[in-house]
Amino acid sequence: MAYENIIVETRGPVGLIRLNRPQALNALNSALLTELNAALSAFDADGRIGAMVITGSEKAFAAGADIKEMQSLEFVDVYMENFLGDWESVTRIRKPIIAAVAGYALGGGCELAMMCDFIIAAKTAKFGQPEITLGVMPGMGGTQRLARFVGKAKAMDLCLTGRMMDAEEAERCGLVARVVPGQDLLEEAIQAAEKIASFSQPVVMMTKETVNRAYETTLAEGLRFERRIFHSMFALEDQKEGMAAFTGKRTPSFKNR
Ligand code: HXC
Repeated sequence: MAYENIIVETRGPVGLIRLNRPQALNALNSALLTELNAALSAFDADGRIGAMVITGSEKAFAAGADIKEMQSLEFVDVYMENFLGDWESVTRIRKPIIAAVAGYALGGGCELAMMCDFIIAAKTAKFGQPEITLGVMPGMGGTQRLARFVGKAKAMDLCLTGRMMDAEEAERCGLVARVVPGQDLLEEAIQAAEKIASFSQPVVMMTKETVNRAYETTLAEGLRFERRIFHSMFALEDQKEGMAAFTGKRTPSFKNR
């Protein structure tokens, strides 16, 4: 597929996707979503790829859903076509996705970053849910994921005032995993993805699935799920290999089975 709104490349076992609508600060329109879903699904199905990175430009990860595309829509349009519903498919990708965020991650941009498995931010990153300033509210997970990830106080503050928070504040409140200097952002994200890709792929995927369970269920059910998945890992050759390598004082060579 020829892409017009994203740039797709591979770096060894890492699938790299750059959002690429510089004239609109990477505003997320439906064409971009179609391409992003196609690229993510292709990487997910490719056995050579172990993890993915989504990034934007120095100025913007993404400045939100495309306001110009949305502004003339009517209720019946957005309801009947389930507008924004397809963004959920990003969360159905089974391999890990890292968001490497520099500049603006606003509205849908912040929500896309939160659909990824973790966020590495440049010092320049700015996160916010400014939808309220446009006469709407977040519609791609901002009220729900933000509240779960950073708690009610910050989620209410951001969604109700529309203010932006910088990378340091985002790290302090748990939205961001690491903050790095801008020039190191992509390298840091790719290195993290390479590290993930060096481990057993089924174990990586089960770990992602299990951490995500924490946001869907009770503690007791989550712990039960964790133990069952943990038990099932003893059926993998990679568990034998990982533990044999440790006791043999050598580097493991995972077979992904
Ligand atoms: C469409 C956008 C855009 C967006 C920026 N642009 N954000 N186009 N949708 N979300 C366009 C501008 O119109 C402009 O195009 C160009 O990108 C450069 O933007 P400027 O505003 O000139 O840049 P700057 O002055 O540096 O300001 C940067 C900014 C500002 C602070 C990020 O662009 C901004 O406030 N953008 C909107 C942020 C926002 O409200 N996001 C939430 C969207 S709603 P031209 O053609 O004029 O050069 C959303 C809802 C999700 O995400 C679900 C609920 C419905």
